[in-house]
Amino acid sequence: MLELCLVRCSRVPKGLAGQFRAFTVAVDQQESIEVCGRKFARDQWTNATPKILSHVGRNLHLQEKHPLGLLKTRIVNHFYSQYISRTGNPIFSVFDRLSPVVTVEQNFDSLLVPKDHISRSKSDCYYLDAGHLLRGHTTAHQADLIKSGLDAYLTVGDVYRRDEIDSSHYPVFHQLDAARLYSKHEIYKQEDLRGIRLFENGEETPEKQDVHTLDTALFLQNDLKVCLERLARNLFGEEVDMRWVDSFFPFTHPSFELEVHHNGKWIELLGCGVTKQEILANCGITDKVGWAFGLGLERLAMCLYQIPDIRLFWSKDSGFVNQFRNATPTSKVIYKTVSVYPQCTNDVSFWLPEETEFSPNDFYDLVRDVGGDIIEQVTLVDEFTNPKTKRTSHCYRIIYRHMEKTLTKTEVNEIHEEIKSLATQNLGITLR
Ligand code: DAH
Repeated sequence: MLELCLVRCSRVPKGLAGQFRAFTVAVDQQESIEVCGRKFARDQWTNATPKILSHVGRNLHLQEKHPLGLLKTRIVNHFYSQYISRTGNPIFSVFDRLSPVVTVEQNFDSLLVPKDHISRSKSDCYYLDAGHLLRGHTTAHQADLIKSGLDAYLTVGDVYRRDEIDSSHYPVFHQLDAARLYSKHEIYKQEDLRGIRLFENGEETPEKQDVHTLDTALFLQNDLKVCLERLARNLFGEEVDMRWVDSFFPFTHPSFELEVHHNGKWIELLGCGVTKQEILANCGITDKVGWAFGLGLERLAMCLYQIPDIRLFWSKDSGFVNQFRNATPTSKVIYKTVSVYPQCTNDVSFWLPEETEFSPNDFYDLVRDVGGDIIEQVTLVDEFTNPKTKRTSHCYRIIYRHMEKTLTKTEVNEIHEEIKSLATQNLGITLR
């Protein structure tokens, strides 16, 4: 026993290293991983880490008062109000709860991404096993949605890409994808469609796919650009400067990117193009043509709300979250940078005065007077009236944070005590 202990003790560093290795190996080599209630047996492809998996289900885009939720609703509302069918219903259907777990077929094959394309590599994606990954783009749902019979949809969701981490890159972000299909009579509104063709057996040119007539291709390109320029003007204002840049995607031809001029820089807003006819054919669609686009919500929200760091979207810190608490999708919120130093939270509860009027604003002013700029927030967190005495009690949460340094508990306590004592003297409250 003793010997064993001595041996162990004398090898602490090595032993620890070994233990640590054993631990990480154990985590990495668990036989299966579970995501969204589904189990995936580990194989050569599995590389999704617990940290990444912890983001699945946060669904920032579904939180009404989160900047991404606000932006999503703003775009959806734009499409709902601008594109209405003859029967008065929105033309675009919205899908924002599709599982981020997709197959390799959905993410790549259905979109004609070549087998050896770099975007399929383990170093670019988070694989669950050889056949499944966390979607790398919301375009992964295109074929399924089209197969299900939809002619116009928007899809919004979290996407996962292995990438550097800096102020504008994070391995999880959010996209909004859309597609719209047209039949011949929707494009050519005249009565007599004889002699009008969507398709031809032609050549691919920079302007069109081999199977599209030039008229079809030009209609689609124009309709797509009008739609997206209108969206950009809705988001950035009527006067926004924008430009179209030729691009390439395996699933569209021709392909474009839209850039907008914002704060002195050209920002790439979205990718789009005329949907490859082969994709539609694989979905069983032979009599329609269409376009599609995809945009990243974070980049857009960072511009619109002046959010300086992409990590902030994941923050649960009230200094971030509360800045959007009262926003509506169309309100112009300008994010104010909160200090990077930690918050210090202290509550205070008191009985309101019986003789005099009390307004929470009086207390807020007093707190600001005493604490100055280190007061980040004051909120009424609890209100209660004693049924017998009829006295009312308020509880306020005060969040302290200095912009330039970490506050010590003692410094904060001193100020907090002073607030309590001045409130008692000046506002007639009774501390509980
Ligand atoms: N999926 C592309 C990306 O993540 C964006 C995109 C481009 C989506 C063209 C589309 C499209 O639907 O048609 O970069």
